[in-house]
Amino acid sequence: MTTTDWLQRWQQGRIGFHREAAHPALPAHWQRLEIEAGAKILVPLCGKSRDMRWLAERGHPVLGVELSPLAVDQFVAQLDQPALRYRQSGFECTRQGSVELWCGDFFHFQVDQAAELAGFYDRAALIALPPATRQRYAHHLAQLLLPGTRGLLVTLTHQDPERGPPFSVSHEEVEALMAPNFELSLHDVSAAEEGLVESVWELTRRGPAI
Ligand SMILES: C[S@@+](CC[C@H](N)C(=O)[O-])C[C@H]1O[C@@H](n2cnc3c(N)ncnc32)[C@H](O)[C@@H]1O
Repeated sequence: MTTTDWLQRWQQGRIGFHREAAHPALPAHWQRLEIEAGAKILVPLCGKSRDMRWLAERGHPVLGVELSPLAVDQFVAQLDQPALRYRQSGFECTRQGSVELWCGDFFHFQVDQAAELAGFYDRAALIALPPATRQRYAHHLAQLLLPGTRGLLVTLTHQDPERGPPFSVSHEEVEALMAPNFELSLHDVSAAEEGLVESVWELTRRGPAI
């Protein structure tokens, strides 16, 4: 999957990954991260996810990064609420309420833009990426976050290594990718639709807490 493939998927409406309600991992596990209301949450590869609304409703400013302008427009259209458009650091940005969406390539999102990030939420971001890009993603995510920053990561496994996205990412691979920079705890493993098995991880950026 290249960035062009993702843009095409949005144009063709092939977005079976989108859920019309917040993912159950949020009500089940978000609270245990103990991230204060008012603290900004990064949502990489965010699509038009309702999960961002769930986080915003709990008092978090949300910063989503998404490649497709169609996803951004469709997110904004979910609510009858004005949106402000602006350009920052090469990204087309849209703010609606306390959710800001930065439209562009996550790998171009830089640390100076991330200084205020207090948490993160990855559902279907790591597992959207092919094997070689997952290493790059894990490294890029880590270098955006200050030591002590916590987040949730939702991953999937399935039985077909040729299939994806979503790609099957084993627990061993999650640990190999993330453990150099994050402490990990596995909170949940549950069967999802079509033979998929979903895992919910808590991650804390290693290093002295600030
Ligand atoms: C599987 S979807 C998941 C979306 C969202 N997290 C959700 O749960 O609905 C992956 C999303 O990542 C976006 N994407 C893929 N590569 C990207 C990149 N390099 N930078 C920003 N977004 C990207 C795609 O356009 C797509 O919307």
